Amino acid sequence: MNFYEIDSFDKYQDAYRTSVEQPSAFWDNIAQNFHWHTLWNKTLEWDFDGPNIKWFQGGTLNITENAIDRHLAEHGEDVAVIWEPNNPHEKAVKLTYRELSAEVNRFANVLKARGIGKGDRVAIYMPMIPELTIGVLACARIGAVHSVVFAGFSAHALADRINDSQCKAVLTSDGMFRGNKSLAVKETVDEALASCTSVETVVVVQRDEREVTMVDGRDVWYHEACVGESDVCPAEVMDAEDLLVILYTSGSTGKPKGVVHTCGGYMVYAGYSFKNVFQYERGDVYWCTADVGWITGHSYIIYGPLLNGATTVMFEGVPTFPDAGRFWQVVDKHRVNQFYTAPTAIRALMAMGDEWVNDADLHSLKVIGSVGEPINAEAWYWYHEKVGRGRCPIVDTWWQTETGGHMISGLGDLSPQRATFAGLPLPGVQPVLLDSDGQEIAGDGVEGYLCIKHPWPSMLRTTYGDHERCKNTYFSHYNGYYFTGDGARREDGMYRIIGRVDDVINVSGHRFGTAEIENAINSSSVVTESAVVGYPHDIKGQGIYAYVILEGEGHDHDQVRREIVATLVEEIGPIAKPDVIQIVPGLPKTRSGKIMRRILRKVAEGDTSNLGDTSTLLDPSVVDVIKADAEKLQV
Ligand code: WTA
Repeated sequence: MNFYEIDSFDKYQDAYRTSVEQPSAFWDNIAQNFHWHTLWNKTLEWDFDGPNIKWFQGGTLNITENAIDRHLAEHGEDVAVIWEPNNPHEKAVKLTYRELSAEVNRFANVLKARGIGKGDRVAIYMPMIPELTIGVLACARIGAVHSVVFAGFSAHALADRINDSQCKAVLTSDGMFRGNKSLAVKETVDEALASCTSVETVVVVQRDEREVTMVDGRDVWYHEACVGESDVCPAEVMDAEDLLVILYTSGSTGKPKGVVHTCGGYMVYAGYSFKNVFQYERGDVYWCTADVGWITGHSYIIYGPLLNGATTVMFEGVPTFPDAGRFWQVVDKHRVNQFYTAPTAIRALMAMGDEWVNDADLHSLKVIGSVGEPINAEAWYWYHEKVGRGRCPIVDTWWQTETGGHMISGLGDLSPQRATFAGLPLPGVQPVLLDSDGQEIAGDGVEGYLCIKHPWPSMLRTTYGDHERCKNTYFSHYNGYYFTGDGARREDGMYRIIGRVDDVINVSGHRFGTAEIENAINSSSVVTESAVVGYPHDIKGQGIYAYVILEGEGHDHDQVRREIVATLVEEIGPIAKPDVIQIVPGLPKTRSGKIMRRILRKVAEGDTSNLGDTSTLLDPSVVDVIKADAEKLQV
């Protein structure tokens, strides 16, 4: 039996059982569905203490041969990428697998000609245009490691990421379109590069045709560099455990860290999970609305679909431009069969009224998906009824940057489905719920810390340049388990994700560490100290609530708030703007100097009736002031 295609619930159960009882045999079975130069001689080696995780050792491959070349003989004329521009009046672009192959190879040759090769890191800071996908694949073609940085991040944040992994090149664009705006991109790169010494090459794609400064010897236009380059570039043969991806993500402490994924395991899992979660069949048109700057875009706009010879839609725009019907117009225009978006987008569109979605046809849809944050019941039912017309299953996919691929999710219409539940684990995934002593909680109707007790092929291998940090963040909380940072509930074997249990805030599906935001706020000259918490937000899932102590007295509070917002935009980017900034005289600290965040969270939630025991606070009276001022802010 080949377990690659799961087409019934029985087969899922069979696959799941096999994956737990004989993990190596199970993954051998799946991995054989890909093209390898040399087959692996050891399927899995692992210990979670190191951590040391190696999949498919001895195996060699190139992921682009699997994502592109192997489809050429029989399906070269199938459409690989449909690009839908920001402006609906601009023409959509369709690239067949043959065309994509030529573009990727040509750009791979450009990179090679600039001295970039296996193991070099390349930062990609770009809007959602085809060259982004081409750039990612061109890196993989020559064995360079891509580090995509979401183009909404600030110059400062970009520079941190470029420096952390010492990128040798940057791929970017002159500017970008977003709704009715056109924004600078290259200018931000220039600003970042003022503090980066490792970058020797900047390739610039022309998008909005604004004026940009080109640095002689360093900067080159994409369209000029491609002229005369061959569209044939032999794929670099990679070891299964060679690096493929670095992607920065936020955690509880410190600066964002570079999550590392490797070639073999990531490929196998991205391909396998895509195929089964979306129940993709050849000829279907699949659309994921995420940005390639996040893991969802890596695994489920680029790699997962292309590994299966799928047609993947790439959308440059936003859900509300030119109007709130755009998503549904695009679904109808390209006859999308699988649609995958985030709860925050669903809630935002739901708030704009049903007429937009009612006006659309949507009969092409077969499966609709959700990702990035817990989906609340109201949004779930609206999505199911209005978008799925009551007939499409919702796949609520729980996973993380670190997991590389879907971990807990329905598989199309095969699995039992329950509103707000992600559902059952994928084959190969062994979730457990732990109590605070690290004991596994058995049975159903229980809640605990969500951990994973056995490796899966696309799990992170390390955090770039700092293996100790990887160990401390994910493998030290509970011995022998990968700790996800999420809490979950289990009913009938199905999981419902409750949300983060650490100091990570999830704002519109974007992850921030409270410490990361506090550090940025504290760098403002008017601030002495700050504490940041998340609070429930109707559209964003969570909002950012900042408590700030000012330096000195007599400040104009509105002016100060503007300054703090400006600092955050500069340090991180507009996506980190706080929803509420409350100026406070002090923070509730224990005698040992620890901030009692529990109290700050309660106040932010507007739930101050019972703040619990405050007797261990150094100065309990500060709580009364914070409470009274918060009520005035009328959150
Ligand atoms: C949250 C995004 C509930 C969760 C793929 C996780 C979810 C974090 C879901 C990872 C879901 C993601 N239901 N919560 N379906 N999907 N999350 O790294 O808290 O950007 O730990 O990866 O998002 O966010 P990341």
